[in-house]
Amino acid sequence: MTTQYDCPLNFTNNKLHIENKDIAEIIKNQPTPFYLYSENELIKNYCAFSEAAKALDAEYEICFALKSNPNKVLLRTLAALGAGADIVSGGELTRALNAGIAASKIVFSGVGKTEVEINQALDADIYSFNVESIEELELINELASKKNKIARIAFRLNPKVEAITHKYISTGYKTHKFGLLKKDILESLKNESLWKHAKLVGLSVHIGSQLTCLKATGEAFKVLSECVAHIPFELEFVDLGGGLGVNYSKTQEPKAPSIEEYMNVIKENVQIKYPLKIVFEPGRRIIASAGVFITSVIRTKQSEDCHFVIVDGGMNDFARPSLYQAYHEIFPSYRSENMVTTDIVGPICETADCFGEQRSLPKLSSKDFIAIADTGAYGYSMSSNYNLRSKPQEVLLTKNGEIKKIGELQDLNSI
Ligand code: LLP
Repeated sequence: MTTQYDCPLNFTNNKLHIENKDIAEIIKNQPTPFYLYSENELIKNYCAFSEAAKALDAEYEICFALKSNPNKVLLRTLAALGAGADIVSGGELTRALNAGIAASKIVFSGVGKTEVEINQALDADIYSFNVESIEELELINELASKKNKIARIAFRLNPKVEAITHKYISTGYKTHKFGLLKKDILESLKNESLWKHAKLVGLSVHIGSQLTCLKATGEAFKVLSECVAHIPFELEFVDLGGGLGVNYSKTQEPKAPSIEEYMNVIKENVQIKYPLKIVFEPGRRIIASAGVFITSVIRTKQSEDCHFVIVDGGMNDFARPSLYQAYHEIFPSYRSENMVTTDIVGPICETADCFGEQRSLPKLSSKDFIAIADTGAYGYSMSSNYNLRSKPQEVLLTKNGEIKKIGELQDLNSI
């Protein structure tokens, strides 16, 4: 089963390791802060998802959500495993193609696709435009007509369900900007002029991210199936989106469902009278646990009864705690019995620049570092240059046990 808290960090001889590599040794050649990925963990997660999907007895495609982590080297690993891509911009399209992902495995989501991006995707012949409004369909139809092409369309259904997750990443209710209501989808099929250079080949749904309760997901899949039943011709596929949550701690409640449980929800609720392909768009579940963020301690500070560990990584490098009040496990560089209760904060001039409050850690000094776990998804991809700080580096522990730099070096200090 895959419900346990899972992460490639461990203590060996009381020193923090990633798999069997001593992180203190890695730091000798790699300035902090940086993201450190485990190729083994990435492969394990992808293969677990793919294995579990076999239980559906249907053709399927796993289109990795690039927004969670668009690193070129990691994408090449996924491409070699057979992954497709879920993209939301022209940049992600170029990145996916350059990583060796075939256009026939690329789906394009997003409410604000521009003319330039649509043309780019039409030229590439992607698998599907996941269309989020009739206005968008009109533009795709018009642009496809200029190229004398037929665009492949999968409407994104807004199933009017409320997913239980952080409100910023819940996307399946009618007040959210995403998708089209069932009645508008069915109505559009009567308007032939919309379809001269576009063909409806699928329906998609994505109701939110970091989903740990699958009740709303099941309801959304039911609405999807009803919608498919009302379409007067056969589709090629349904795209069930991403969203499957992960455990960010051992004690997280509710716990993330296993992938097998997720597949059961699909079996029970995706009821369609003819066989069709299932497309998935997972991001977090594939890559979150494969990444850790390594940041060195600059100094500590005591202020009455408040203790701070100040590290060299900030909310510009890793935004989830400040943006969503997200909890991430923080591992110290060494294990000891002698603990202090402390806040772990970065150098940015905002009180939100805090990675963890009131955590119990050994006494740390400027010789030490910490590792923030499960930062492979929405870590580097959401980093910025706020406070004119260079973006963090990315480093890979390969499946052969080598340490490789896999990011682009940015050095704003010397510009
Ligand atoms: N498909 C669509 C259409 C999406 O919008 C998303 C995520 C995914 C797939 C992948 O979802 P996943 O399997 O990774 O949950 N920055 C936030 C998460 C934003 C998710 C946006 N859309 C975070 O750090 O929690």
